[in-house]
Amino acid sequence: MRYRASALGSDGVRVTMESALTARDRVGVQDFVLLENFTSEAAFIENLRRRFRENLIYTYIGPVLVSVNPYRDLQIYSRQHMERYRGVSFYEVPPHLFAVADTAYRALRTERRDQAVMISGESGAGKTEATKRLLQFYAETCPAPERGGAVRDRLLQSNPVLEAFGNAKTLRNDNSSRFGKYMDVQFDFKGAPVGGHILSYLLEKSRVVHQNHGERNFHVFYQLLEGGEEETLRRLGLERNPQSYLYLVKGQCAKVSSINDKNDWKVVRKALTVIDFTEDEVEDLLSIVASVLHLGNIHFAADEESNAQVTTENQLKYLTRLLGVEGSMLREALTHRKIIAKGEELLSPLNLEQAAYARDALAKAVYSRTFTWLVTKINRSLASKDAESPSWRSTTVLGLLDIYGFEVFQNNSFEQFCINYCNEKLQQLFIELTLKSEQEEYEAEGIAVSASLRASPCAMELTSRRRSPQERCQGPMMMPSSPLAPQWEPVQYFNNKIICDLVEEKFKGIISILDEECLRPGEATDLTFLEKLEDTVKHHPHFLTHKLADQRTRKSLGRGEFRLLHYAGEVTYNVTGFLDKNNDLLFRNLKETMCSSENPIMSQCFDRSELSDKKRPETGVASAGVSSLSPAPTNLPFILAEQVATQFKMSLLQLVEILKSKEPAYVRCIKPNDAKQPGRFDEVLIRHQVKYLGLMENLRVRRAGFAYRRKYEAFLQRYKSLCPETWPIWAGRPQDGVAVLVRYLGYKPEEYKMGRTKIFIRFPKTLFATEDALEVRRQSLAICIQSWWRGTLGRRKAAKRKWAAQTIRRLIRGFILRHAPRCPENAFFLDHVRTSFLLNLRRQLPRNILDTSWPTPPPALREASELLRELCRKNMVWKYCRSISPEWKQQLQQKAVASEIFKGKKDNYPQSVPRLFISTRLGADEISPKVLQALGSEPIQYAVPVVKYDRKGYKPRSRQLLLTPNAVVIVEDAKVKQRIEYANLTGISVSSLSDSLFVLHVQREDNKQKGDVVLQSDHVIETLTKTALSADRVNSININQGSITFAGGPGRDGIIDFTTGSELLITKAKNGHLAVVSGAWQQQLPPAEGPGARAEPLAAKPSNLSSAGQSLGTSPWVL
Ligand SMILES: Nc1ncnc2c1ncn2[C@@H]1O[C@H](COP(=O)(O)OP(=O)(O)OP(=O)(O)O)[C@@H](O)[C@H]1O
Ligand SMILES: [Mg+2]
Repeated sequence: MRYRASALGSDGVRVTMESALTARDRVGVQDFVLLENFTSEAAFIENLRRRFRENLIYTYIGPVLVSVNPYRDLQIYSRQHMERYRGVSFYEVPPHLFAVADTAYRALRTERRDQAVMISGESGAGKTEATKRLLQFYAETCPAPERGGAVRDRLLQSNPVLEAFGNAKTLRNDNSSRFGKYMDVQFDFKGAPVGGHILSYLLEKSRVVHQNHGERNFHVFYQLLEGGEEETLRRLGLERNPQSYLYLVKGQCAKVSSINDKNDWKVVRKALTVIDFTEDEVEDLLSIVASVLHLGNIHFAADEESNAQVTTENQLKYLTRLLGVEGSMLREALTHRKIIAKGEELLSPLNLEQAAYARDALAKAVYSRTFTWLVTKINRSLASKDAESPSWRSTTVLGLLDIYGFEVFQNNSFEQFCINYCNEKLQQLFIELTLKSEQEEYEAEGIAVSASLRASPCAMELTSRRRSPQERCQGPMMMPSSPLAPQWEPVQYFNNKIICDLVEEKFKGIISILDEECLRPGEATDLTFLEKLEDTVKHHPHFLTHKLADQRTRKSLGRGEFRLLHYAGEVTYNVTGFLDKNNDLLFRNLKETMCSSENPIMSQCFDRSELSDKKRPETGVASAGVSSLSPAPTNLPFILAEQVATQFKMSLLQLVEILKSKEPAYVRCIKPNDAKQPGRFDEVLIRHQVKYLGLMENLRVRRAGFAYRRKYEAFLQRYKSLCPETWPIWAGRPQDGVAVLVRYLGYKPEEYKMGRTKIFIRFPKTLFATEDALEVRRQSLAICIQSWWRGTLGRRKAAKRKWAAQTIRRLIRGFILRHAPRCPENAFFLDHVRTSFLLNLRRQLPRNILDTSWPTPPPALREASELLRELCRKNMVWKYCRSISPEWKQQLQQKAVASEIFKGKKDNYPQSVPRLFISTRLGADEISPKVLQALGSEPIQYAVPVVKYDRKGYKPRSRQLLLTPNAVVIVEDAKVKQRIEYANLTGISVSSLSDSLFVLHVQREDNKQKGDVVLQSDHVIETLTKTALSADRVNSININQGSITFAGGPGRDGIIDFTTGSELLITKAKNGHLAVVSGAWQQQLPPAEGPGARAEPLAAKPSNLSSAGQSLGTSPWVL
């Protein structure tokens, strides 16, 4: 290659390349595929170790994530970490679980294909932790659903509850999953999680009644005792001390330093609420948990006939209450068995051993069925509430598989057999899918040459007769044998199908043999099962027993044991209890008792239909269960239902189908040491896991073809700067661009292959060298970009300066010619001035109708400015008018009339302006009822106290003036003194001075009238305006200078003379006239509300008037 001269040695190349790929993660290779010595297990483990030492626990093998349990909190699952991995390409960031999570999520959204993340590894390797982190990632980073946002909390909170009931401390793991879990998370078309569903697999229920040394029962028992409130424990009849319960002390380690049961209980209690448990349901659930503990403490004693009798009455009492069953019925069920023979029920007493068996069977059944109920209940809570809506059809699911890991104990029983078989199945699926996908990729890309990737069995044998590695069967993956012509060679890998077949094959498999032994008539025991196994599968290379083993191996095998060589290593199983556990039966009368339970959960768990179900044997257990090596049930009816192992097998087959229907992603977990210690890298243990997880084979298969592959677009984007023809832009197809690029780079034909959408590079060193060249190129590109950018900045600055100078020049010229007609020289300036004015005006518009300010326009805009001002004013008026109330409108109308009559004509008018007109100044209580009676139905529109001056002597007399729709009425106390019909009111006279006298002129022909009336009102403007409006005499108010003449009586006129003086004086002058001197006091404002005034609040005084800081008194526009 042209640039190779600059490349370093292989180590140096690698380091440089890594730094280029991600500067953040420089330790080892972050994808094993890039390991130069990819066939060396030592190099593989060394890479793991280097990274582990630096707390880099994740490494890829292509798309598979290898994770090493750090046993410490590395702070790598924070929100920031989540953000960092969102939406970025898998290879652009250091390996992480979140990268797998995000890739699966994006595939789910963009391709709308269901996904499944399969997490495998042995017990304690970190599967459950990984599942929780994945779930957390989706809960926190996915958009919230439009409805039912609580589903995210529920998904998260289902974990602590299931862990409390389904996890326990084992020798391998302090929080070991004792059940398998497959969880589907449903996403709507917007990618929001809207629901979930959990499938659980075979709970290890034998743990309820027995634990190996150093192990515990399920967490929930200890949590309840440690964290439960005093009151709860009292109700349940429990003591806080776990040592008091026989079911909790078998493993002799009730207390574990790494577990905080008290805190965990709090978490569980809270979680139960989140996942929709009512208080009653929690109570019922706890009653069941407590009843299992009480069951464990039930003791029996033998009577004279060796029949078992319950001796612990207290426990029985609690059980009766907590389970809601009849005490006598339970007592009988624990000490007798019911047999139905020829349609007749017979009760047969149990001996001590049988009674203990019955008790333990009941405890296991109660607990395991409650666990199943719990999963169903959680599923109800997780079910999408939108399942009916049309968008439901467009949901996609992402499955998370966290199943119990492969495990080997000192004593391995039926449960370990099932767990390890399950791991075999998943390993097989892994092999099938990874190889298949590899094959599919080559085929899809059109570069598979001569062989297809079909899995074929490959042999591994037990130590006693294992073949040499060379004898191992070779898998079909092909490698290029010659650099020039890609001829393919087979890649060896171990296919564990042979072990799966050994376990599950029909008729010949271990499960079939076990079922057969459980069901056959005659004396079947665990040992006869072993014998049958020996007979049937004795030639199988993965099976061994004491009898079949050679001299040396025999020593390590007991007579009641068989050994399987699993893909993950040898496991010796003790057959004791196999038949019993596989049968999993409960005495009929115990079932009957539980079916009658009043505990709602129990009554759901034990359905009465079971009692009439003839498919399962009802009687056999008595003999089958007592001793694990005792005979299997005899006289069994025909059985159609599957035994436990078969049920498990079927559910696993279903699981495999579910997983196969989805796009898989893999997380392979490795446990670094058995001591659960941080920082300890136990090479032997890790090598073993690397081997059995098939990681080397996985790597070899991945590398068999090509070490590196990338979409043409991505490859071209990254490396296009290395070739002048593709830099900076390649206009053609990306594939052609890559062809030009690699030709330019000098790739040799054997180094790469062009697929349909991807380029495949065979050797890591080719890629490293390309990366090195890119690094060098980037330096020069950086310099080039830097200088180009500096030039750009300089040019921009110069252009700006030039523009500024030109603009200033044009403005000056325009300013000089601003008064000249528009011409090219001043057009810019004039436009600028106009624009500035309009922009300025926009900010300075008057805020309300009373605001008269307006910016001064330039000469050219004067006319436009006036038009705008008028528009603006009209707009404000329109807005104001729309906002006023009817009361305020009336007020304004009256004020407008007053203004029309008095403005500029009467001296005390200005003082009246700021005072609101009041609707009436006398209330109904101040007007005599007699007057009201005299007026009849005529309403009083306005009333005001006035002073009347006699026509002759001008004596002042206090009166009331009332306005009705028809007349002015003058009232003295309880008497109507004068009524002037509006038709007879010929005019009103008032002086131009600031006095408050006025004369009502009355028609002289009207004989009933005594003459004109001289009155004085403190609210003269208001009184006269209202009178004029009521009588429709707005135009008949005479404002006189000097004097007023009025009709004093028949044939006699009176005269009032007005003058201005220092103070008010109303007297009869010597000439017989009434002399009025307007006093200075009248210049002052009258009090706001006159005595007796009934001010109806003018409720709807427009707020914008007051808010504008104006009062009526300064409203020039109104008055
Ligand atoms: N990524 C991690 N970071 C920190 N600690 C971890 C991590 N993964 C696992 N652990 C620690 O290891 C313990 C065991 O992990 P976990 O329970 O996930 O194992 P498992 O593979 O599910 O085992 P089993 O098959 O027994 O259920 C955890 O309780 C935790 O303390
Ligand atoms: Mg687990």
